[in-house]
Amino acid sequence: MQLRDKVAIVTGAGTGIGEAIAQKFAREGAALVLAGLPGDPVADVAEAVVAGGGGAMPYLGDLAEEQQAQACVDLAIDQFGKLDLLVSNAGIFIANAETDLYRIEDFDRTLRNNIRTAFLMTKFALPHLRASRGNIIYTGSEAGFNGSPGFTPYGGSKGFLHAFAKGVALEQAPHGVRANCVCPGPVDTAWTRGPDSPIPMAAQATIGNMVPLGRRATPEEIANIFAFLASDEASYVTGALWLVDGGVTPAKSDIGTQMPAALRQPPKGVLALRHSHDGLRGKEVYRAPR
Ligand SMILES: NC(=O)c1ccc[n+]([C@@H]2O[C@H](COP(=O)([O-])OP(=O)(O)OC[C@H]3O[C@@H](n4cnc5c(N)ncnc54)[C@H](O)[C@@H]3O)[C@@H](O)[C@H]2O)c1
Repeated sequence: MQLRDKVAIVTGAGTGIGEAIAQKFAREGAALVLAGLPGDPVADVAEAVVAGGGGAMPYLGDLAEEQQAQACVDLAIDQFGKLDLLVSNAGIFIANAETDLYRIEDFDRTLRNNIRTAFLMTKFALPHLRASRGNIIYTGSEAGFNGSPGFTPYGGSKGFLHAFAKGVALEQAPHGVRANCVCPGPVDTAWTRGPDSPIPMAAQATIGNMVPLGRRATPEEIANIFAFLASDEASYVTGALWLVDGGVTPAKSDIGTQMPAALRQPPKGVLALRHSHDGLRGKEVYRAPR
């Protein structure tokens, strides 16, 4: 077990990639505080972890609010007595519009939920992570490297997180705290599949064609990288932007069309995930008229 006796906070843990990180970390022995917005199924994920023999506490709150972010960190300390790992994964992807048509309210929501959450959670977790010589992992994106046409503020928010993670890594190294950023390509969650996604259904159908490996990642494939980076086996890794994108960043064409159908099958995985596609439930998604 890679994370035996570690205490972790996972944000955005009710759905999608966060649910998979929660399940993976639990299998690896970590005790968990699972944080999400009111309405997110974090209690359900916590129950599943406990039913599997792990330790997990749900925390419901808006982590872009100072007091609620602080309360989340306090819960980990009150419940488990220390904090070893912060997984700053919460975020939103709620609009599709060229930049001149991108609504200012959606820009503000994107920065608030993608950036302010990460800053506040880092700020309040750091004193405890210094005490435990712990580490932080952010969820960035290939969009933070490449930009994201139609979703420019989203890609920009991830570019911020990439630089923020590197800055935290350099600043906190003398305190024994590592910081890294996992940067996924398209992942099979509500953001890339289904009617709630800001990506039109026709474009969803061809996402795999842009990816050399010919398909989306499963949430579990992303969670596996988080578990490694969080573990002591990654003791020499800090300031890394760890691409997990099926090759989409260096790809220059629809190279994924060359992938034979038989090789496009995702691995079956072992985690029992129930909320991979629930992340956009109840959220207002804006699509500019074309
Ligand atoms: N799905 C993809 O293709 C993809 C690709 C690259 C990066 N990512 C990143 O992965 C992370 C997870 O995305 P996902 O696809 O699993 O989506 P998701 O919607 O299933 O998960 C995000 C979760 O964060 C929660 N959240 C948002 N704002 C919050 C706040 N202020 N306080 C507390 N919780 C909050 C949401 O309610 C949601 O449950 C995001 O940071 C995203 O940018 C996703």
